[in-house]
Amino acid sequence: AGHKRLIIAIDGPSGAGKSTITKLLADRLGYIHIDTGAMFRTVALAVRRAGVSPDDQPALARICHECTISFERTNGCCQVLLNGEDVSRAIRTPEISLLTSAISAQKVVRDFLLELQRQMGSAGGVVLEGRDIGTVVFPDADVKFFLSASAEERGRRRYLELRARGENISLEETIAAVVQRDKQDEEREHAPLRRAADAIDIDSSGLSIEEVLERMTAVIEAGLGGK
Ligand code: DC
Repeated sequence: AGHKRLIIAIDGPSGAGKSTITKLLADRLGYIHIDTGAMFRTVALAVRRAGVSPDDQPALARICHECTISFERTNGCCQVLLNGEDVSRAIRTPEISLLTSAISAQKVVRDFLLELQRQMGSAGGVVLEGRDIGTVVFPDADVKFFLSASAEERGRRRYLELRARGENISLEETIAAVVQRDKQDEEREHAPLRRAADAIDIDSSGLSIEEVLERMTAVIEAGLGGK
C-alpha cells in the first residue's frame, strides 16, 4: 500500500531558499510543487498592467475576478501562466517584487488566492511554499517547516541571482530591499509572515541545499512512521 499523500507547508521570508528547496523536495517525493509567491506576483503583474493603484479595492477585486492563474509543469519545472501567457520571467523583477508585497497586504487579493491554493492543494501530494501556508491556508497540514536565514545571507543570495540575470543593483540595495520586504510582510494586518506554533524551524544560513533537504526528509519519514 502506498503512503498517505501529504500536505507539506514550507513558510518563511524571501531568499531563505524556499523555492529551490520546495522544488527539489517535491521531486523527491513525487509530489507537485505550488509556489504561492508566484501566484501573488502574477496578480501584481496584472495590477501593474492594468495601471491601477495597489490600494484600489474595487479595481483589485475586478482584476482577481478576471485573471486565471495556472502552473504548467511540462519542460522541467513550473511555468506560471496568466490567462495562458507564460509570465515566469516578467514576475521576477524588483519592481514587481515590491508591488507584490503591497497587493499581498490586501484582503481581497488574499481571499481570492486562498481559495485557489486550497483547491490546488487539498487532494494532498503537494509541497506548498509561501508565508501563511501553515498558519492560514492549510493549518492542518501534515508537516510544516519554517525556513529562514539571516537578512545578510538572503540579500547576498538574491544579489547573486539578480546579477546573474543582468540586473544592475548593488549588494547594499539588495539587502535593504530584503529588510524592507520582511518588514512589510511581518507587519501587515492580514496573514502576516508568522511561524506556525507547530512548525519545525530550519535556519539555512550555514547549510547546503542537500543538508536542508536531508533534515526535511528525516522529519517527513519520522512523521510517516507514526501515521
Ligand atoms: O516568495 P516570493 O518572494 O515570491 O513572494 C513574493 C511576495 O508575496 C512577498 O512579498 C510575500 C508575498 N506572499 C504572501 O504574502 N503570501 C504567500 N503565501 C506568498 C507570498
